[in-house]
Amino acid sequence: MKRLKSIFGIFLLRNVYSVHLFHVLSRGRLRPAILRFCGAKVGKNVQLGPFVYWDPHLDMLEVGDNVIVSPQACFIFHDRDLSEFGYGNLYLNVPHKLQKTTLCNNCRVGTRALILPGVTIGEGACVGAGALVTKDVPAWSVVAGIPAKIIKTFAPSDEL
Ligand SMILES: CC(C)(COP(=O)(O)OP(=O)(O)OC[C@H]1O[C@@H](n2cnc3c(N)ncnc32)[C@H](O)[C@@H]1OP(=O)(O)O)[C@@H](O)C(=O)NCCC(=O)NCCS
Repeated sequence: MKRLKSIFGIFLLRNVYSVHLFHVLSRGRLRPAILRFCGAKVGKNVQLGPFVYWDPHLDMLEVGDNVIVSPQACFIFHDRDLSEFGYGNLYLNVPHKLQKTTLCNNCRVGTRALILPGVTIGEGACVGAGALVTKDVPAWSVVAGIPAKIIKTFAPSDEL
Protein backbone atom coordinates (compact mmCIF):
# COMPACT_ATOMS: atom_id res chain seq x y z
CA MET A 1 0.00 0.00 0.00
CA LYS A 2 2.86 2.37 0.94
CA ARG A 3 4.60 1.55 -2.36
CA LEU A 4 1.38 2.20 -4.33
CA LYS A 5 0.97 5.56 -2.60
CA SER A 6 4.57 6.44 -3.43
CA ILE A 7 4.11 5.53 -7.13
CA PHE A 8 0.87 7.55 -7.30
CA GLY A 9 2.64 10.46 -5.56
CA ILE A 10 5.42 10.45 -8.16
CA PHE A 11 2.78 10.30 -10.92
CA LEU A 12 1.09 13.40 -9.45
CA LEU A 13 4.41 15.23 -9.12
CA ARG A 14 5.53 14.52 -12.66
CA ASN A 15 2.18 14.72 -14.51
CA VAL A 16 -0.28 16.85 -12.56
CA TYR A 17 1.81 19.31 -10.49
CA SER A 18 2.43 21.76 -13.37
CA VAL A 19 -0.93 21.55 -15.17
CA HIS A 20 -1.99 25.20 -15.08
CA LEU A 21 -5.72 24.51 -15.32
CA PHE A 22 -5.73 22.31 -12.20
CA HIS A 23 -3.65 24.92 -10.37
CA VAL A 24 -6.12 27.71 -11.24
CA LEU A 25 -9.19 25.58 -10.47
CA SER A 26 -7.78 24.64 -7.05
CA ARG A 27 -6.92 28.32 -6.37
CA GLY A 28 -3.29 27.42 -5.86
CA ARG A 29 -3.98 24.70 -3.30
CA LEU A 30 -3.24 21.73 -5.58
CA ARG A 31 0.56 21.95 -5.58
CA PRO A 32 0.94 22.17 -1.78
CA ALA A 33 -1.65 19.36 -1.50
CA ILE A 34 0.40 17.11 -3.83
CA LEU A 35 3.54 17.71 -1.77
CA ARG A 36 1.62 16.87 1.45
CA PHE A 37 0.28 13.68 -0.18
CA CYS A 38 3.89 12.72 -0.96
CA GLY A 39 4.91 13.16 2.70
CA ALA A 40 6.16 16.76 2.92
CA LYS A 41 5.15 19.07 5.75
CA VAL A 42 3.79 22.22 4.11
CA GLY A 43 2.51 25.30 5.97
CA LYS A 44 -0.19 27.83 5.14
CA ASN A 45 -0.30 30.34 2.29
CA VAL A 46 2.48 28.68 0.30
CA GLN A 47 2.88 29.62 -3.39
CA LEU A 48 4.60 27.02 -5.55
CA GLY A 49 5.53 27.74 -9.15
CA PRO A 50 5.18 25.40 -12.12
CA PHE A 51 7.86 22.99 -13.33
CA VAL A 52 9.65 22.84 -9.99
CA TYR A 53 11.72 19.65 -9.76
CA TRP A 54 10.96 17.90 -6.45
CA ASP A 55 13.10 14.92 -5.50
CA PRO A 56 10.55 12.15 -4.73
CA HIS A 57 11.84 11.71 -1.12
CA LEU A 58 9.40 14.39 -0.05
CA ASP A 59 9.26 13.23 3.57
CA MET A 60 12.63 15.07 3.78
CA LEU A 61 10.95 18.44 3.09
CA GLU A 62 9.48 20.91 5.57
CA VAL A 63 7.99 24.18 4.31
CA GLY A 64 6.83 26.94 6.67
CA ASP A 65 4.08 29.53 6.16
CA ASN A 66 4.00 32.26 3.50
CA VAL A 67 6.78 30.68 1.40
CA ILE A 68 7.25 31.33 -2.33
CA VAL A 69 9.00 28.90 -4.68
CA SER A 70 9.48 30.24 -8.23
CA PRO A 71 9.21 28.26 -11.47
CA GLN A 72 11.85 25.64 -12.35
CA ALA A 73 13.57 25.68 -8.97
CA CYS A 74 15.12 22.30 -8.20
CA PHE A 75 15.14 20.51 -4.81
CA ILE A 76 17.29 17.44 -4.15
CA PHE A 77 17.02 15.51 -0.88
CA HIS A 78 19.32 12.52 -1.51
CA ASP A 79 22.90 11.82 -2.50
CA ARG A 80 25.30 8.86 -2.56
CA ASP A 81 27.17 8.57 0.73
CA LEU A 82 30.78 9.09 -0.35
CA SER A 83 32.27 8.99 3.17
CA GLU A 84 33.71 5.46 2.56
CA PHE A 85 34.19 5.83 -1.20
CA GLY A 86 37.64 5.27 -2.62
CA TYR A 87 39.67 4.82 -5.79
CA GLY A 88 38.20 1.98 -7.91
CA ASN A 89 34.84 1.78 -6.08
CA LEU A 90 31.60 1.81 -8.06
CA TYR A 91 29.17 4.67 -7.44
CA LEU A 92 26.34 2.22 -8.16
CA ASN A 93 27.27 0.26 -5.01
CA VAL A 94 27.29 3.29 -2.75
CA PRO A 95 24.14 3.62 -0.60
CA HIS A 96 21.97 6.72 -0.71
CA LYS A 97 21.83 9.12 2.18
CA LEU A 98 18.81 11.34 2.72
CA GLN A 99 19.02 14.82 4.20
CA LYS A 100 16.27 17.12 5.38
CA THR A 101 15.57 20.43 3.65
CA THR A 102 13.73 23.21 5.48
CA LEU A 103 12.17 26.31 3.98
CA CYS A 104 11.42 28.54 6.97
CA ASN A 105 8.49 30.95 7.21
CA ASN A 106 8.34 33.76 4.68
CA CYS A 107 11.36 32.74 2.61
CA ARG A 108 11.52 32.89 -1.16
CA VAL A 109 13.35 30.74 -3.72
CA GLY A 110 14.06 32.28 -7.15
CA THR A 111 13.62 30.79 -10.59
CA ARG A 112 15.96 27.92 -11.47
CA ALA A 113 17.67 27.94 -8.07
CA LEU A 114 19.15 24.55 -7.19
CA ILE A 115 18.90 23.56 -3.51
CA LEU A 116 21.22 20.72 -2.49
CA PRO A 117 20.33 18.19 0.27
CA GLY A 118 20.40 19.19 3.93
CA VAL A 119 19.96 22.93 3.49
CA THR A 120 17.84 25.25 5.64
CA ILE A 121 16.63 28.48 4.03
CA GLY A 122 16.15 30.81 6.99
CA GLU A 123 13.11 32.91 7.84
CA GLY A 124 12.65 35.87 5.47
CA ALA A 125 15.63 34.80 3.34
CA CYS A 126 15.69 35.22 -0.44
CA VAL A 127 17.48 32.89 -2.85
CA GLY A 128 18.33 34.59 -6.16
CA ALA A 129 17.44 33.22 -9.56
CA GLY A 130 19.85 30.51 -10.70
CA ALA A 131 21.64 30.22 -7.33
CA LEU A 132 23.33 26.96 -6.34
CA VAL A 133 22.60 26.64 -2.62
CA THR A 134 25.08 24.33 -0.89
CA LYS A 135 24.83 25.64 2.70
CA ASP A 136 22.24 27.02 5.10
CA VAL A 137 20.99 30.50 4.23
CA PRO A 138 20.80 32.83 7.26
CA ALA A 139 17.45 34.44 8.09
CA TRP A 140 16.69 37.77 6.37
CA SER A 141 19.60 37.51 3.93
CA VAL A 142 19.74 37.43 0.13
CA VAL A 143 22.00 34.87 -1.53
CA ALA A 144 22.91 34.55 -5.20
CA GLY A 145 25.44 32.95 -7.52
CA ILE A 146 27.27 29.62 -7.89
CA PRO A 147 27.88 28.62 -5.17
CA ALA A 148 25.39 30.96 -3.48
CA LYS A 149 26.90 33.73 -1.34
CA ILE A 150 25.24 36.40 0.76
CA ILE A 151 24.84 39.57 -1.34
CA LYS A 152 22.81 41.54 1.22
CA THR A 153 20.93 41.32 4.50
CA PHE A 154 17.62 42.96 5.33
CA ALA A 155 17.41 45.52 8.13
CA PRO A 156 14.30 45.41 10.35
CA SER A 157 11.35 47.06 8.57
CA ASP A 158 10.10 50.50 9.75
CA GLU A 159 6.57 49.03 9.71
CA LEU A 160 7.34 46.83 12.72
C1 LIG B 1 18.73 38.00 -5.89
C2 LIG B 1 17.78 39.16 -6.14
C3 LIG B 1 16.55 39.07 -5.22
C4 LIG B 1 18.57 40.43 -5.83
O1 LIG B 1 17.83 41.54 -6.15
P1 LIG B 1 18.38 42.96 -5.65
O2 LIG B 1 18.38 43.00 -4.16
O3 LIG B 1 17.56 43.99 -6.35
O4 LIG B 1 19.90 42.96 -6.10
P2 LIG B 1 20.64 43.88 -7.17
O5 LIG B 1 19.94 43.83 -8.48
O6 LIG B 1 20.86 45.21 -6.52
O7 LIG B 1 22.03 43.10 -7.34
C5 LIG B 1 23.04 43.14 -6.35
C6 LIG B 1 24.25 42.38 -6.92
O8 LIG B 1 23.95 40.99 -6.98
C7 LIG B 1 24.04 40.51 -8.34
N1 LIG B 1 22.91 39.60 -8.54
C8 LIG B 1 21.60 39.90 -8.44
N2 LIG B 1 20.86 38.81 -8.66
C9 LIG B 1 21.71 37.81 -8.94
C10 LIG B 1 21.53 36.47 -9.27
N3 LIG B 1 20.31 35.92 -9.34
N4 LIG B 1 22.63 35.71 -9.48
C11 LIG B 1 23.87 36.26 -9.41
N5 LIG B 1 24.10 37.54 -9.08
C12 LIG B 1 23.03 38.31 -8.86
C13 LIG B 1 23.93 41.76 -9.20
O9 LIG B 1 24.56 41.56 -10.45
C14 LIG B 1 24.63 42.78 -8.35
O10 LIG B 1 26.03 42.58 -8.46
P3 LIG B 1 27.05 43.85 -8.42
O11 LIG B 1 26.89 44.44 -7.04
O12 LIG B 1 28.39 43.21 -8.65
O13 LIG B 1 26.62 44.78 -9.48
C15 LIG B 1 17.27 39.18 -7.62
O14 LIG B 1 18.29 39.59 -8.52
C16 LIG B 1 16.75 37.82 -8.05
O15 LIG B 1 17.49 36.93 -8.49
N6 LIG B 1 15.40 37.67 -7.89
C17 LIG B 1 14.69 36.46 -8.23
C18 LIG B 1 13.89 36.67 -9.53
C19 LIG B 1 12.95 35.52 -9.73
O16 LIG B 1 13.30 34.37 -9.65
N7 LIG B 1 11.71 35.88 -10.01
C20 LIG B 1 10.66 34.87 -10.15
C21 LIG B 1 9.40 35.43 -9.62
S1 LIG B 1 8.13 34.23 -9.71
